[in-house]
Amino acid sequence: MDDVPLGGKRVIVRVDFNVSAGDDGVIDATEDFRIEAALPTIQELRQARCKVLLMAHLGRPGEDDGVLSMDVIATRLRRMLQEDVRCLPKLYGSQVESIVQGMEQGEVALFPNVRLDQRETSPNEGFAQEMASCADAYINEAFSVSHRAHTSVSLLPTKLPSAAGRRTVLEVDVLSRLRLRPEHPYIAITSGAKITTKIGILEFLLSQVDKMCVGGKIANVFLAAQGILKADAYPADEIAVAKHLLESYADKIIVPSDIVIGNDDGSYMQTIDAGNIPETVGNVWDIGPKSIAQIQAACEGAKTIIWNGPVGRVEVDAYTQGTKSLVDFLATHSAYRVIGGGDTVNVLEKMKKVPSFNHVSVGGGAMLEFLEGKRMPGLEPLNLPAGRQGM
Ligand code: 3PG
Repeated sequence: MDDVPLGGKRVIVRVDFNVSAGDDGVIDATEDFRIEAALPTIQELRQARCKVLLMAHLGRPGEDDGVLSMDVIATRLRRMLQEDVRCLPKLYGSQVESIVQGMEQGEVALFPNVRLDQRETSPNEGFAQEMASCADAYINEAFSVSHRAHTSVSLLPTKLPSAAGRRTVLEVDVLSRLRLRPEHPYIAITSGAKITTKIGILEFLLSQVDKMCVGGKIANVFLAAQGILKADAYPADEIAVAKHLLESYADKIIVPSDIVIGNDDGSYMQTIDAGNIPETVGNVWDIGPKSIAQIQAACEGAKTIIWNGPVGRVEVDAYTQGTKSLVDFLATHSAYRVIGGGDTVNVLEKMKKVPSFNHVSVGGGAMLEFLEGKRMPGLEPLNLPAGRQGM
């Protein structure tokens, strides 16, 4: 941001406000981590008398039925900034241009959900050009979506003088250090979604770390690969990946030794040794105290710990214990600790433990892909120094 003249300009700030409100439909202080992360840049631009034009996506239109309107975000933002935030009616066009022209210096406006235009998710030159026409400069303050080759992320910055926002630079610096110079012993705790979408990062991390503890759905697949959990509940390719990793990195992978089984809503639950899982059980919902002790032992003397993904099904209260115990343990550990992934961050926010960690990444998938060294289409147009672009 120091290299692009911004004072008094109309600046599109691509932010990632992809956060979900709780059951009450209102975003509160335990759900606004990503919004808070962008505030220093927004305030800096306001102080530089810029017209701050915030652009964000929300959900995945067409794929999920979640909230797609930015109203709930605007409400939270007004409260956090203690300022009015104008909601722009469209993403581009003469009406938007004249509204922007009439804005006061230092005023903040929010575009509609950029993914409501189908040209967002497959890069489109015309759409990028249209969006660029109401601004003089572009800031990427959306590290967490910078792994996507989407129009507002990878093409729009090529149409305007562009730079990385303060938070984006911080993310890149911390994660580059982790990728290139992690201090050992280095422990990874990986959990969360399907193993096939994480194979690259699992293999990469296994080549780097001293130990990897698995939890959540990933642990289920490893347990099935070991013949402990019935395998027919999981895709054959996932089991094959887990078997391959268990064979290649036998001395590094730590699979939970006790687990929690139960019914869907957690009204019935039981903690048992992994070896005693009844044949009829296809899923485990959390890890037990012995597994937490295994992780604690693995982390003894660690200098670096990275954690991505809750170790249990945290949508159900009854199955949050493992994740909460882990938060409490890691919150006071002396290692350099980096946490990422939306669901994990939500738990930290609810427990008010975000400040207890060295770095809590705004990125979930983006953090993992950056660590793996994958292309980051959103960082490439930003003139970041070599080594800071994800490759
Ligand atoms: C995220 O929530 O990780 C980012 O906002 C990216 O969202 P996406 O996975 O829907 O592209």
